[in-house]
Amino acid sequence: MDFKKDFPIFQHRPQLIYLDNAATSQKPLVVLDAEKDYYERLNSNIHRSAHFLAEEATIAYEETRQTVADFIGTEKKHEIVFTRNATEGINLVARSYGDACLQESDEVLLSKMEHHSNIVPWLQLKERKGVNVRYLDIDENGQFVFDSSQITSKTKFVSLTGMSNILGSIPDLKPIIAAAHAKGAKILIDACQLAVHSPINVQELDADFLVFSAHKMYGPTGVGVLYGKEELLKKMPPFLGGGEMIQEVFEDRFTPNDIPQKFEAGTPNISGVVTFKAAIDYIGKIGFDKIRSIEQELTEYTLNKLSALPYLKLIGPKTTDNRSSVISFAMEGIHPHDIAEGLSQKNICIRAGHHCGQILMDTWGLPATARISLAFYNTKDDIEQAVHALEEVYKYFH
Ligand SMILES: Cc1ncc(COP(=O)(O)O)c(C=O)c1O
Repeated sequence: MDFKKDFPIFQHRPQLIYLDNAATSQKPLVVLDAEKDYYERLNSNIHRSAHFLAEEATIAYEETRQTVADFIGTEKKHEIVFTRNATEGINLVARSYGDACLQESDEVLLSKMEHHSNIVPWLQLKERKGVNVRYLDIDENGQFVFDSSQITSKTKFVSLTGMSNILGSIPDLKPIIAAAHAKGAKILIDACQLAVHSPINVQELDADFLVFSAHKMYGPTGVGVLYGKEELLKKMPPFLGGGEMIQEVFEDRFTPNDIPQKFEAGTPNISGVVTFKAAIDYIGKIGFDKIRSIEQELTEYTLNKLSALPYLKLIGPKTTDNRSSVISFAMEGIHPHDIAEGLSQKNICIRAGHHCGQILMDTWGLPATARISLAFYNTKDDIEQAVHALEEVYKYFH
């Protein structure tokens, strides 16, 4: 099936081969239409005005909250907080939960393959509160090197990725979540990449917090989701102050609103949130079974093609086990930026750099990697053209 026809960018740019989906995905027409429709028919501020237009906009905004709650398997839609992106969700938790509940010399456990968004907020917490930040090692298949002794009575918070944006690996989180809870630690899952490729059920996972961004999921930029367990969100202080997050304001104090409004200060990205529903509905219509089977086949095809190039080294898992469609590699004697530049000249978009994962790069002694990240709308022809272009880049430099 030709899914590219759902995405207008491929009609506007017929030569485009887009293999940078882990950075952000393309947007289907249904999503573009939803945004236009919102501004043409509904545009109004939410939650505050009594008029009918505000009420309709509020209903549409809150419908997305319900859709997101269903999407990740919580029955409580007030456990869904809208943010600007996953990064803001992690910052919110580090600032609000971290500042209120963690003390000097408490420990925050991360891993060496976290995105900078899931490292820097914790290092900032270390600067503010003096907590210790420790990192789980990563094995060559992109799995956490973990045994339960790594979570001690000092460990108060664990924050880990559900899928690596560098290696494509999907680590087994369940034993870590169980071990964290056994010691009374809370756990946040950075599902920024995972949510694009796999169904998530926060209740089955028993995650305390979970974040992701709409823009990687065929939705608009400027919308993120923070899921948090009701009892935790309730006891956390507000992150940002302003309109909507308060019940009452006096000269010398304020009373915060209930969740989730307590964490949604100011006018949110209303059109973005409303539009995100169209993206989730689009994913739902295709279904994760189909998305996964297409992406697994494309991943296997890419791994086989890349493995056949003797001068190319795959970084991370070499098989399709416990992984999705993000594939990093290095080429003998050629900087990843030159690879990406060479492919760009042929209308092929891949990513090169440290992928906001400098700690893994430093640990593994890599200056950078080139990265192909596939979506279900990619085709084997896209991959063949990319592999052909890689061969040409190699020839050019040798
Ligand atoms: C694993 C992971 N976490 C967090 C982020 C940050 O996402 P955003 O920039 O949308 O906040 C990314 C973005 O690439 C990511 O891949």
